[in-house]
Amino acid sequence: MKSFYITTAIDYVNGSPHLGHAYEKVLTDVIARFRRLMGDKVHFLTGVDEHGQKVQQSARKRGIPPQQFCNEVSQEFRNLCTRLNISNDDFIRTTEPRHKSVVRDALQKLFDRGEIYRADYKGFYSTRQEQFLQEKDRLPNGAWPEIFGEVTEITESNYFFKLKAYQPWLIEFLQQNENFIFPRYRQKQVLEFLKEPLNDLCISRPRERLEWGIALPFDENYVTYVWFDALLNYYSAVADKGLWPADFNVIGKDILVPPHAVYWPIMLKAMGLPPPKSLLVHGWWLQSGQKMSKSSGNAVNPLDLIDQFGADAFRYFLIREMNVGQDSEFTLELFLSRYNSDLANDLGNLVNRTLNMTNRFGGGVVPAAEIVEDPERELHELWEKTRTEALPLCEGMQFHSALDRAFTFIKAINAYIEKRAPWKLGKSTEAADQARLRTSLATMAESLRLGSTLIQMVMPTTTQKIHAALGYTPGSGWADELVWGSRLTGCKVEAGLVLFPRPQPAAPKA
Ligand code: MSP
Repeated sequence: MKSFYITTAIDYVNGSPHLGHAYEKVLTDVIARFRRLMGDKVHFLTGVDEHGQKVQQSARKRGIPPQQFCNEVSQEFRNLCTRLNISNDDFIRTTEPRHKSVVRDALQKLFDRGEIYRADYKGFYSTRQEQFLQEKDRLPNGAWPEIFGEVTEITESNYFFKLKAYQPWLIEFLQQNENFIFPRYRQKQVLEFLKEPLNDLCISRPRERLEWGIALPFDENYVTYVWFDALLNYYSAVADKGLWPADFNVIGKDILVPPHAVYWPIMLKAMGLPPPKSLLVHGWWLQSGQKMSKSSGNAVNPLDLIDQFGADAFRYFLIREMNVGQDSEFTLELFLSRYNSDLANDLGNLVNRTLNMTNRFGGGVVPAAEIVEDPERELHELWEKTRTEALPLCEGMQFHSALDRAFTFIKAINAYIEKRAPWKLGKSTEAADQARLRTSLATMAESLRLGSTLIQMVMPTTTQKIHAALGYTPGSGWADELVWGSRLTGCKVEAGLVLFPRPQPAAPKA
């Protein structure tokens, strides 16, 4: 069995999860489930990023200790995973001892090897935002924007990691490993960024400015810069399992350069560890062209949609609408249109028609197919095409296209039913029509079994419900299950199955 280790970014716990966080988990889950179905031994890690300025500030605002604040918000992220039906094998929190000890060991090792040094840092500091500013933060007229409040130039002693020394290595590594970053054009952006000289990375924060972090093992007056701490989660969670390097670190485009594409491979190189095999970079969910985020106040709460439409419908929408790598606009209209047309009309109706007709014309038992005429031949051929196209699309992260193929097939099953019109065949007493009737019942059930199997990584509960309604227990080899056959012959189907009920209109406001 091939082992496959995949991770999501770990979310900041300074606010509740939104649709963007949900998407990353669903995308990673779809890949993890797909690899499991393909026979890999998968390890799927997600978790939360609990240290740093933002979290300390949010806890202060609430007037509670940071650890208590983290405990509460982390639970929300865990609950989101459960509600989304995420199949993660582990959930890491950066405040856990297993993580802290790996971070401290890594720092000590790098310090001992001379990869970390102390120096004075001079810069413009915003007390209000509690951060150093950069030249690019200035307004065109040279002044500092209002949000920074009073800005003063200060000198601070800090610890630095020798990032710059590894710049030539990183460039060469990226040139030699063209598939390190997916999509590929993002790798070009990183190389573009690396045309400018790197600065060494300041990896410490004096305790008087920031308390909420991992103490430096060689100087307890400082805590670790949050990114240096957070990136190591991918390694700390599996350090004792022998699973490093990860096959994929899945992240959003905002955290590629510099943290994941520059700091992370260099940190690993300096520690004598290999980089992850690849970084999968997804785009953003937008609202009216703006990145959805807590701070812009345009965040959609995923739990509301899951409550109303179910996890599978929500997962379907996210994966069907987003071309991995690009941005996608979220609107409720778009969501409802996918829900109504693809799920309620095409798939939901197909399931009901199949169950109803098998009950009405087959005594509730799936008959054997007896003949192959044009309508069957066409559907078989479309299935072969669907199957042979969909799997490589999934391998290539084109899940939106794989779903498109699967739902084209589902539509075609509905068209097949119209063509065969079993309700007409049922009225005929001719032997040939009776054979056509039995064949049509077998064909719609088998093609529904196949179509629903193909969408399993995206809609696992739906697949399971459809198989159960068909009276079918699938075997363990998923790829084998995608072969057209007669597995359903003799299966006793259920009376009905409501999969995607029409949403109830909201009660009028009193
Ligand atoms: N804590 C850091 C990541 C550390 S990884 C070692 C962080 N956290 S975050 O909560 O701000 O973002 C977590 C993930 O959610 C990131 O990959 C980010 O790109 C993703 N998303 C946040 N908003 C998003 C959208 N609007 N759309 C899609 N994903 C986006 O960054």
